[in-house]
Amino acid sequence: MEQYIIRGGNPLAGEVNISGAKNAALGILAAAIMTDDTVLIENLPDVRDINVLLEAMESIGVKVERITRHAVMMNSENIGDVSVDYDYIKRIRASYYLIGALLGKYKKAEVPLPGGCNIGSRPIDLHIKGFRALGAKVDIRNGFIVAQADHLRGSHIFLDTVSVGATINIMMAASMAEGYTIIENCAREPHVVDVANFLNSMGANIKGAGTDVIRIRGVQKLHRTEYSVIPDQIEAGTFMFAAAATKGDITVKNVIPKHLEATTAKLLEIGCEVEEFDNAVRVVASKRLCSTNVKTLPYPGYPTDMQPQIGVALALAKGTSIVTESIFENRFKYMDELTRMGAVVRVEGNTAIITGVEKLSGARVSAPDLRAGAALVIAGLAADGITTIDDIVYIQRGYELFDEKLRSLGAEIEMVHSEKEAQKFRLRCG
Ligand code: EPZ
Repeated sequence: MEQYIIRGGNPLAGEVNISGAKNAALGILAAAIMTDDTVLIENLPDVRDINVLLEAMESIGVKVERITRHAVMMNSENIGDVSVDYDYIKRIRASYYLIGALLGKYKKAEVPLPGGCNIGSRPIDLHIKGFRALGAKVDIRNGFIVAQADHLRGSHIFLDTVSVGATINIMMAASMAEGYTIIENCAREPHVVDVANFLNSMGANIKGAGTDVIRIRGVQKLHRTEYSVIPDQIEAGTFMFAAAATKGDITVKNVIPKHLEATTAKLLEIGCEVEEFDNAVRVVASKRLCSTNVKTLPYPGYPTDMQPQIGVALALAKGTSIVTESIFENRFKYMDELTRMGAVVRVEGNTAIITGVEKLSGARVSAPDLRAGAALVIAGLAADGITTIDDIVYIQRGYELFDEKLRSLGAEIEMVHSEKEAQKFRLRCG
């Protein structure tokens, strides 16, 4: 079973190139099937979630040609089947974006209902509410969502909860509905805007993405495009907090600083120096961090996907901090692992009270989910001694060459495939 093994204590320093945004790329890949023309998509991150979604799309007849590690040419004129196999949705929840895309183009879709996830129950009732509002008949049969419409007609849809997935999924279906759709209380994340821009580059008529009201005038056909995915603000933020936790000096390159504003604000609050450039941000942490309080919110608030990373940094800060997770109901599982490394944390419902300690100590821990796994790597990099992290397959879902990029910043981290390899690392770095 692959593991990361880390000898902590080195301040990380240097420059790191940020990959394309996983959560934008997932929506864009799904939307690409809505035209019969060929589409070129660049700056895709080479991560497991993207590669699994591409496999799922090939399984329904999409022709996928890898041009480079980060670019694909796709053609969907021969999609023979609008039913996605359960195996794919089990491996990547975001396969559910294929519902909105298939429904928009073919007026029918059959995709397995995604299960829960390690961070919460994550229902998709709002997605279904939106499809029904557009005129689709949507049933849940034998674990599948079966959606079908003679016509999709524009509608006025109000999302009860701000939802990235529902906003993107409904936007895709509405982009090929007849007439005018207004979606209210939309998610405003950069990746929502990126999917809207991608659809517009194919001839869709979407206005207001990035605000809480999106207006769509449906079109009959979408056409070819060439598109480059935005940089991943969560990968960037993860490296920024690695600088904070290890008292390092890291410059994240190929980023859009505006997308990092909430993260930057918190890094400044806890005592880091942050310098912004056109497409880079530098974080320097020369002294012990200070405590602060943080509440996760929909964009432009502090991102829930950056909650574990700040949780680790605050575990080392001077003073007591309060972290409130307002998006998902089960996103503090990593705190049990962090406690095993010496953190002092009390979790009460959706709030964690963290009393900072001077040092964490290395231990064997397990990644409970994608972002928490990356945060535990940061904890290992900051801790004294050796940390071993199990279940790193979660981390590989969303971070491209994570250990390689960290080593380029001076981290002593290896991906090991056996106890023997781990022993060798200990002997070499012990
Ligand atoms: C997206 O998930 C991201 N995933 C998540 O990132 C991210 O944490 C989340 O947005 C919030 O920013 C992708 O983009 C692939 P939501 P999504 O719908 O769309 C509730 C990562 O680490 N809700 O915005 O599933 C839901 O339960 C992942 O990359 C409903 O109640 O999140 C949650 O409490 C983890 N009904 C809240 O809304 C619905 O129909 C926000 O969820 C849909 C959502």
